[in-house]
Amino acid sequence: MAAAQTAVQLECAGVGVLLSVRDGRLPEVAHWGPALGRLDAAGADALVGAQEQRVGPNTVGVPVRVALLPEAGTGWTGRPGLSGSRDGAGWSPRFDVHEVTLDGAPVEGFASAGSGVVQFAATDGELGLDLLLTMELTQSGVLRSRARLTNARPEPYEVNDLVLAYPVPAEAAELLDFAGRWGHERVAQRSTFTVGTHLREGRRGRTGADAAYVLHAGTPGFGFADGDVYAVHTAWSGNHTHYAERVFGGERVLGGGELLLPGEVMLGEGQSYESPWVYAAFGRGLDEVARRFHRLLRARPAGGLSVERPVTINVWEAVYFDHDADRLTDLAERAAALGVERYVLDDGWFGARRNDHAGLGDWVVSPDVWPNGLHPLVDRVRELGMQFGLWFEPEMVNVDSEVVRAHPDWVMAARSELPVESRFQQVLDLAIPEAFGYVLGQMSAILDEYDIGYIKWDHNRDLVEAGDQTRGGRPAVHDQTLAFYRLVDALKAAHPGLEIESCSSGGARVDLEVMQHTDRVWVSDCNDPLERQDMMRWTGQLLPPEFLGAHIASGRSHTTGRVHDLGFRAATAVFGHLGIEWDLANASPRELDDLRAWVTFFKEHRGLLMRGDVVRMDGFDDHLRVHGVVASDQSEAVFAMVTTGSLDASPGPRLRFRGLDPNRDYLLRPLLVGTPPGGLEPARWWGAAPAYPGAVFRGSTLEHVGVAAPKLFPDQAVLFHAFRA
Ligand code: DGJ
Repeated sequence: MAAAQTAVQLECAGVGVLLSVRDGRLPEVAHWGPALGRLDAAGADALVGAQEQRVGPNTVGVPVRVALLPEAGTGWTGRPGLSGSRDGAGWSPRFDVHEVTLDGAPVEGFASAGSGVVQFAATDGELGLDLLLTMELTQSGVLRSRARLTNARPEPYEVNDLVLAYPVPAEAAELLDFAGRWGHERVAQRSTFTVGTHLREGRRGRTGADAAYVLHAGTPGFGFADGDVYAVHTAWSGNHTHYAERVFGGERVLGGGELLLPGEVMLGEGQSYESPWVYAAFGRGLDEVARRFHRLLRARPAGGLSVERPVTINVWEAVYFDHDADRLTDLAERAAALGVERYVLDDGWFGARRNDHAGLGDWVVSPDVWPNGLHPLVDRVRELGMQFGLWFEPEMVNVDSEVVRAHPDWVMAARSELPVESRFQQVLDLAIPEAFGYVLGQMSAILDEYDIGYIKWDHNRDLVEAGDQTRGGRPAVHDQTLAFYRLVDALKAAHPGLEIESCSSGGARVDLEVMQHTDRVWVSDCNDPLERQDMMRWTGQLLPPEFLGAHIASGRSHTTGRVHDLGFRAATAVFGHLGIEWDLANASPRELDDLRAWVTFFKEHRGLLMRGDVVRMDGFDDHLRVHGVVASDQSEAVFAMVTTGSLDASPGPRLRFRGLDPNRDYLLRPLLVGTPPGGLEPARWWGAAPAYPGAVFRGSTLEHVGVAAPKLFPDQAVLFHAFRA
């Protein structure tokens, strides 16, 4: 390796990355993708050189370099990594790398490791800026990078944009990302990776139901099992970007970062801006990409979740704002009788919150509806052996509230008028230390008084014109996002073991940074299983099943009006963290028996359902979904066959189940929990009813040949259990 070059190779879990610093310039990702195997300095040099573009006609006189933080000064005409200036000057940085470290040790020439952390310290002396780029290859093969920019001069430096970019090869010609809205989150969309920028901006001040979520580029037609797939995810719960950029010269990158508002980050001398982590995962097929993210989360510093995910009841769809102590106690008793383990009291227990017009922000138990406080209910829930959970929406206020009457300047606003209302509410400016302290104090008082193991943390509006009134309306989404993380962390530190659910009008705050602070997400306010099938499938592209709140609701969906059998609702929900959201006083004895059976089923199998590897099968039929969870030692699996409409063929195509050991035999059996699915005509291989002993198949047969499907009405599901024969 030439002295002017430094290169670092990391290889872990089948993923390889080769980083190169040439002539002291910012690091390029010379390779990111399948593992390369052990390289030596000469091999690394050759690979870096092979990436080098020839100098074309009418371009800059040196090969264009696309660094992790791309710089316009290298001749790169795509999106620059850093945009900023000192009052218009000093806008084109050229950083010189002065130190490269691998796991803290300085690197000279070439170094390699398995998983590890590489850091590049760089300076632009002319502009007075210091930059620290950090890249980590994690044990799961997920790569992540972030940047810290420091102003070394007395004159303020304004950061307008800071993004990080990962190169992808030309074969990655198709894009997949997500869109959505309230009640219809994470809708997949595919497009061709054309010249130009596919830019997804989130300007909602929260992650957003319409977030790009995970932006993939892959070989055309890539599916769950096939294709080389590269994915990025910006881990940030405020304004953010994801983008795929292709320049005509040939380079393609996937990138992301925080989306900064004008003047939002102004660095004084010695002050730093730290970007969010931008994650990147490579896999053969979408399932492998998802599995890498799942393994990463299961190993998160905040701790993985115990497989004993408690079956939950949430009272929202049962009572909404109609809080009546007797009725809510009765619901607790009915839930406990079904085997439920956690009871969550939703919105409406505090202040003047009898509907969504008033009281939000006053975190004091309402004496009107709870004259004896929450004690009688909490005590009864605990006596019944359930954990008690409580709803909060700490970042929000109704203008008609005690807190806003006392502190009108704590409401976020960019101008003299307040922003347009959304759900009759405004945003409390948590970046104001007194406001932060006030909410922390009120929440802590409740957590100290009651035996509460779980918070459902809601956030029901976009941040529109979110300025800080006490600082002349300066934009404050960045500060608000950081304050949110701080508030969660402070409450958790003071209450060890406290679990927090990230809810935001359903699933509008789902990202990898919020998952470093909270413990599950509410996937959507839509519990309709037909909608949920796809939402669970795609939310699961980033988060493993145990992080996905999934509840069995009443027969008629409150958000779509559709009516579905309990079996379909339950067979959908058991692939997430199971709960119930239903006024059980209105459930028939038959429904209660079935519910009990599903709760029992979940508890018996949750070790697998909440820890296994997720597999999703491609193809078959537009109205057939086949997916499952396979134990990591491949000893067993639970699969689901789901009809989301009428199949073209009847019975449907053979069912193929992936993920088992191809060389082992498995006994495959239908799992009929509760009332059998509608329109069910068993397949012959099931054997004699009612026991349905099933049949033995090779893992390879299940994957490549498949087994006959039963006949099933639309909107039904059948589960199968495979275990080593
Ligand atoms: C929105 C949430 O997504 C719902 O589950 C519920 O908690 C309501 N907010 C309460 O206002």
